[in-house]
Amino acid sequence: MKLLFYAAKIYDKKSFGPVNENYPEIEIDYIDHELEPRTASLANGYDAICAFVSANVGAETLQILHEGGVKYVLMRCAGFNNVDVEKAKELGIIVKRVPGYSPESVAELAMGLALAVNRRLYKAYNKVRENDYTLKGLRGVNFYQKTAGIVGTGKIGAAMCRICRGFGMKVIAYDVYENPSLKDFVEYVSLDELLEKSDLISLHCPLMDNTYHMINLETIKKMKDGVILVNTSRGALVDTDQLIEGIRLNKFLGVGLDVYEEETGNVYEDRSDEIMKNSVTARLLSFPNVMITSHQGFYTKEALASIADTTLQNLMDAANGVHNGNDIA
Ligand code: NAI
Repeated sequence: MKLLFYAAKIYDKKSFGPVNENYPEIEIDYIDHELEPRTASLANGYDAICAFVSANVGAETLQILHEGGVKYVLMRCAGFNNVDVEKAKELGIIVKRVPGYSPESVAELAMGLALAVNRRLYKAYNKVRENDYTLKGLRGVNFYQKTAGIVGTGKIGAAMCRICRGFGMKVIAYDVYENPSLKDFVEYVSLDELLEKSDLISLHCPLMDNTYHMINLETIKKMKDGVILVNTSRGALVDTDQLIEGIRLNKFLGVGLDVYEEETGNVYEDRSDEIMKNSVTARLLSFPNVMITSHQGFYTKEALASIADTTLQNLMDAANGVHNGNDIA
């Protein structure tokens, strides 16, 4: 089976290469190009393609893939908000994803961001490098005995709940379903109550119509003054313009974002030599209490190995008509 691997980075080849040896039936070609309508015809003659979070797997792309004979779309990520699921079903293209490669990899980064913005670690690092040993601008708060509010308690949210408990925090959560594995130490509350009571709010629900811009000026105003907000899920859960208004209202002790609305086009690219036009990201970074990372939640050795294995197993299962629970379409 021939698999075309879009937007391949060196680390993809390093993680998929060795795992590929366990799947001799699969022949992988790696290309740098991102998957989008313009590049979809590169997959003509391939059985499958593999794509990531910034790909455009919309109706037009799927149509071109289908006409080129592609039968399987393998998302090497958990989220699939960039896939037109209905169109894939209509065309009979099987789409699979990697729902739970290493929840701790993302949850540990979420806590890392929370700590970094709380204690201004990015500032402290630069200050000491500049021989500035003053503490100005570095005062944080203890997490111990504070309240963590976790939005979405699936695999990653549950891992974040466990981490927050480890810090001695009271953990409250909001989800449309309660996760029974958390019942001993997590109290489920309404979203409004979570917003009002939490000192640290961490987002771990998927991006869907009803979660789009769930953090906006109205919900921000319900939060405590001095709250820390962390988003490692999907950028569009947060209305960035309204977040900026909230930051200007002094609502936040800190904001840590691994994902943000403008990230497509930036993610995993070196744009350091470019003049950015109208960049909301640049405006966010002008605030001393904001830290942004570039969608690196999944980027641990363990997670990459697991993503590679599940993705190639997904292709084998798809080809054999096996529904393995990772199906999107
Ligand atoms: P999951 O499917 O295990 O959990 C998602 C949870 O969100 C479920 O418990 C679900 O009931 C809940 N949920 C659904 N609708 C909701 C709503 N309206 N309000 C509150 N909760 C709601 O997913 P998992 O693996 O925990 O991943 C969560 C998200 O993390 C993914 O959707 C993905 O966007 C993001 N992610 C980010 C990564 C990164 O590198 N930064 C890597 C992997 C995932």
